Amino acid sequence: MTDQTLTPAKPTPTLPDAQTVTSVRHYTDRLFAFRCTRPRSLRFRSGEFVMIGLLGENGKPLLRAYSIASPAWDEELEFYSIKVPDGPLTSRLQHIQPGEEIILRPKPVGTLVLDALLPGKRLWMLATGTGIAPFASLLREPETWEKYEQVVVMHTCREVAELTYGRELIDALPDDPLIGELVGDKLLYYPTTTREDSARMGRVTDNLSSGRVFADLGIPPLDPAHDRAMVCGSLEFNLDVKKILEGAGLREGANSNPAEYVVEKAFVD
Ligand code: A2P
Repeated sequence: MTDQTLTPAKPTPTLPDAQTVTSVRHYTDRLFAFRCTRPRSLRFRSGEFVMIGLLGENGKPLLRAYSIASPAWDEELEFYSIKVPDGPLTSRLQHIQPGEEIILRPKPVGTLVLDALLPGKRLWMLATGTGIAPFASLLREPETWEKYEQVVVMHTCREVAELTYGRELIDALPDDPLIGELVGDKLLYYPTTTREDSARMGRVTDNLSSGRVFADLGIPPLDPAHDRAMVCGSLEFNLDVKKILEGAGLREGANSNPAEYVVEKAFVD
């Protein structure tokens, strides 16, 4: 017997900045999530995004911005993605399997971070579709719960099944060993659909403008003295929500100039 048969060669990463996929879950024919290994050197703030992707057919990396859906303390990284049938990246990424590699550029950036908001009483997380991803990170971040008395999550999708990723994450928060106790009764979850009947219906914008969400949750209307907001959805959604927030007297903040709300586009579409 030779040494070679006793110690088979370990597979070595072949991609630049390669990370190995550890699990994949498909939620609908349009949505999936996956987890992968985390580079030892990667430090990020919950709510930030990184560039991830695969090698293109021309041998060059094909990268897109993805919010990190896992919290900053997690050993692995999690991403939540749409599947675009003819999308250059997601048409291939949706077929990724555990054990396969993705490319991850370890340079996190983004405005949906707690540091970009002034202290306040109530934090609003306003999302459509995969815009829930940065909030999946922030909801599992202890600092979120230490800083705010209440956290309101408004998430709107076309259909009920598209809410599953966010709903399961939120349902699991009270039992989370790290943050379960911090969450207590601070969380107010307001999921809605727009194209399939469900317990609560309507766009985030309509439920804010009509005042319905305040009445349903038994909380006062937006007040720049107390309310802070983070917004993540399509470009049109972000613009429409911005108008409502500005109308209520909230101002847009940034890392360098914290204020009452921050916005980020849900990237891959
Ligand atoms: P609607 O069904 O009324 O268009 P999409 O799947 O197209 O990204 O949309 C996700 C969710 O966001 C849908 O429920 C959609 O509602 C809603 N939405 C889309 N555009 C806006 C907008 N400008 N303001 C508020 N909600 C929006």
